[in-house]
Amino acid sequence: MSEDTAELEARLEEQDEFEPPAEFVSQANVSDDSIYDEFEEDWPECWERAAELLDWDESYDEVLDASNPPFYEWFTGGKLNASANCLDRHLDERGDEAAIEWVGEPTDEENRTYTYEELHREVNEFAAALKELGVGEDDVVTMYMPMIPELPIAMLACARIGAPHSVVFAGFSAEALATRMESADSEYLVTANGYYRRGDPLDHYEKTREGLGDVGHDVSDVVVVDRLGEHGHGHDLESNERYYRDLVDEQSGAEVEPVSRDAEDMLFLMYTSGTTGQPKGVKHTTGGYLAWTAWTSQAVLDVKPEDTYFCSADIGWITGHSYIVYGPLALGTTTMMYEGTPDHPERDRLWEIIEEYETTQLYTAPTAIRAFMKWGSQYPEQHDLSSLRLLGTVGEPINPKAWKWYYKHVGDESCPIVDTWWQTETGGMMVTTLPGVKTMKPGSAGPPLPGVDAQVVDPNGDEVAPGEAGYLTVQKPWPGMLRTLYQNDERYIEEYWAEYSDTQSDDMDDWVYFPEDGAKIDDDGYITVLGRVDDVLNVSGHRLGTMEIESAIVGVEGVAEAAVVGGKHDVKGEAVYAYVITEDGYDEDDEMRSRIEEGVEDAIGPIARPEQVVFTPELPKTRSGKIMRRLLEDIANGEELGNTSTLRNPDVVEDIQRKVGGD
Ligand code: PRX
Repeated sequence: MSEDTAELEARLEEQDEFEPPAEFVSQANVSDDSIYDEFEEDWPECWERAAELLDWDESYDEVLDASNPPFYEWFTGGKLNASANCLDRHLDERGDEAAIEWVGEPTDEENRTYTYEELHREVNEFAAALKELGVGEDDVVTMYMPMIPELPIAMLACARIGAPHSVVFAGFSAEALATRMESADSEYLVTANGYYRRGDPLDHYEKTREGLGDVGHDVSDVVVVDRLGEHGHGHDLESNERYYRDLVDEQSGAEVEPVSRDAEDMLFLMYTSGTTGQPKGVKHTTGGYLAWTAWTSQAVLDVKPEDTYFCSADIGWITGHSYIVYGPLALGTTTMMYEGTPDHPERDRLWEIIEEYETTQLYTAPTAIRAFMKWGSQYPEQHDLSSLRLLGTVGEPINPKAWKWYYKHVGDESCPIVDTWWQTETGGMMVTTLPGVKTMKPGSAGPPLPGVDAQVVDPNGDEVAPGEAGYLTVQKPWPGMLRTLYQNDERYIEEYWAEYSDTQSDDMDDWVYFPEDGAKIDDDGYITVLGRVDDVLNVSGHRLGTMEIESAIVGVEGVAEAAVVGGKHDVKGEAVYAYVITEDGYDEDDEMRSRIEEGVEDAIGPIARPEQVVFTPELPKTRSGKIMRRLLEDIANGEELGNTSTLRNPDVVEDIQRKVGGD
């Protein structure tokens, strides 16, 4: 390391506040601090500014209808179509500009560019095909697809005809697909025969078929994208299955009038993990969600039409919905999609793509940044990344060390970083600095966005003093919020509102949204999110329910009981630790361990695979029979154990500690 670099490293290490670079500020979409006061004084009308980013078929009567909390309605009476907002209205000015730049994983294959004109055409053709298959307004269409352009095309085609989509992450298991299709009563599926992973063609068709076999109702039609061509696995389609390409070709040149949807009509469902074994169907609507993703893309990601913006998330998660598809396309920019992993064929793949496409923004997860950091700065250094103007992170807390690495080695100290806190349920960003306005503090997401009333409170709901840990809450509704859990209003109230609200009241001020995250706040109102306070894990920025994993493990033959907790992990943030009691007559051996790992992969997917399976004769329980999860977490983290005197079986602790320690 040269002396200069060493000096620089030392300076960065000490520095805990960073000002937005002047060059960035001078061109930022939002650069005036007064927006915070303006929005506060003008709430909820301030959100007209978000609605104004969209084209409405009929303008709304009221910004917010809060007459029946927590069933809020936004932009009531307004009508619009999300696909028309993402496509049609850009055709005049940006028809020949790229809407999607898609990069496949294999390097010997041509990448694909879709101009707005081309994307509009194919969305129309596929919308016509869906209609011909019988898909009607409000029918839920499930998508189980990898990162290929046909996924956003299918989503926009659904939006065009008013059919809500429910995208299931392709890495989820067959069983997970079946549960989600059943829960949504979904009779249509769009899938693909496979995709490439680290050079190999992966068979996705077989997994799809297995999932379909478990769906309890009739699935009328399945559309299959032939992603693998000659590298496919030689499957024949069933009678209710058609190839995507054939359907689209049959509709060549077809145009489908976008259905005018009520602002409050459902745009999509997204299943996410909660505390119980059953995933929750989060319902997002057309007007509020689209306005929210467009506004935050503009204000926080600083998206401009001439940008080439890159979010490296998977569209199967909310980040991809909001910030690969809807937000960027609503603003008429160029959004990038990459099919593969960042280390294929080499560990500089992302940087190579950014150099080639002259990417202007990169939005990724702290897990990825920690992996890049581990691989070394020589990889980004091999490439010219000077096109980058802004960096973002999402999904989990980012440690200051990783933040500074990203700032220096990717952003060359000239890009602001936005650390954005939000959730599947919030639809879009809630807590983050505005990059053209606010000082950045590595490790802290920042203040709530203008117009967002986030507070950190104690168990009584009173605000905590700066520096003290408490619970994150949102005290006022916002347009991008979920409207309910699909067909389960009761669980919606129970999960998100019951904790801090007077649930008998019809006054909005008595209702408080609880995201189930712990947090602290500093003197400047910056919020540091500490992580989930419920039984939800965050592995590599992916949300997983401990109960879902436990029930998968208990489903394995020979397992009597299981407890799953998160342990700290250098790269993944958190990793899955499974403590398992076997039934009499079953050996606690590697074979059992593999069967448990497979059981989890089958029920959920490889992302939930336990880092460690620890066999134990007993689980530490309180006298009232509750498993002491905190203790199991401390053991996983190799931390000093607190008071164990309330345990019914304190002896078991030492035994488990020894096993985790590897003796
Ligand atoms: O715990 C918080 C964490 O991710 C959870 C939401 O997960 P999901 O619904 O899958 O959405 C992820 C993408 C928005 C939150 O409850 N989380 C998200 N962003 C951050 C975060 N934790 C700390 N800092 C963040 N920036």
